[in-house]
Amino acid sequence: MISNPHKFCIAPMMKKTDKHFRFLARQFTKKSMLYTEMIHANAILKGNSDRLLAFDNCEHPVGLQLGGSDPKSLSEAAIVGQEYGYDEINLNVGCPSKKVKSGNFGVFLMKNVKLLSKCVNEVKKNIDIPFSIKCRIGVDDFEGEEYLKNFISTISDHDIDTFVIHARKAISGLDTKRNRSIPPLNYDLVFKMKDLFPELKIIINGGIEEVSDVKALLSHVDGVMLGRKIYSDPAFLLQIDKEIYQEDTELDFTSGMQNYMSYILDLENKKDVNRAITHLVQIIRRISHTKDMRRQLLENVKDGSLELEQIFSGFKADLNQRAHLQIH
Ligand SMILES: Cc1cc2nc3c(=O)[nH]c(=O)nc-3n(C[C@H](O)[C@H](O)[C@H](O)COP(=O)(O)O)c2cc1C
Repeated sequence: MISNPHKFCIAPMMKKTDKHFRFLARQFTKKSMLYTEMIHANAILKGNSDRLLAFDNCEHPVGLQLGGSDPKSLSEAAIVGQEYGYDEINLNVGCPSKKVKSGNFGVFLMKNVKLLSKCVNEVKKNIDIPFSIKCRIGVDDFEGEEYLKNFISTISDHDIDTFVIHARKAISGLDTKRNRSIPPLNYDLVFKMKDLFPELKIIINGGIEEVSDVKALLSHVDGVMLGRKIYSDPAFLLQIDKEIYQEDTELDFTSGMQNYMSYILDLENKKDVNRAITHLVQIIRRISHTKDMRRQLLENVKDGSLELEQIFSGFKADLNQRAHLQIH
């Protein structure tokens, strides 16, 4: 593993950061830390673990994000994740969805630090790979500097040294989407946690969209995590290895896209093909001047009526025409 892969992290996002999107992201950054979508511990233990957990070797470093609140199943799922070769296990303590509320996990574990401690303890003692927490700055009236300080202090006592903090609290009753925009961002509180716990690795998340902001934030904390910006503009990642990790890079947009297209053409399962194509739609919106091409892609996602090679040949023509242009 590279020295601090967490300097730039791509956020776990349900229905977005599946293995296909992560493969796409890897065409544009070799250094950033990737995360899976949240996968519930029971799904891993009772479902088709290969379908849920298999990933391409190029994805490293990649963390598996787990959801759940039963210490035993979380630790068993974490062991499975370790066996699959993930570089890190991350526990979701930030999601406020209705489903999560009824299952009493996600951000609701921030209200039940005793149970969270049990979960963390059980996972930690059963795996050898790093284990991190992704949380919010608070939830409902569990908030403020004192609350967050006590929370981090209690959890870090279980030998947890990496905290990803989404810098807004969660509010029960607000839907998941609005919970990502309505509660105000409070970066200062996250900086304060780094000051109070200098030995911990603190990664900040929420509303970050520019490389200049990433750089500014890195003077306060150890890492940044971006979600929506990356999904809506994956080619943004082409700046990261050079600007953030100071690594020379050979990566370029055209070859990255061509690799991804070959990857799609090699997929055997129709569902996988459709999911992988869905991730292209955002990119195509940005670069393709051919409306036809966009329409064809979307139609194919819906009913699979067109041959992929046929669609991609139109896209390749667009790419070639644009190859010499600076995308960013
Ligand atoms: C579609 C979508 C799905 C998400 N799914 C997850 C998830 O599975 N686990 C998680 O911890 N956070 C999830 N999040 C939250 C993000 O990881 C991140 O904390 C949030 O979007 C704020 O970062 P951003 O402003 O850079 O997008 C999701 C966000 C979005 C937009």
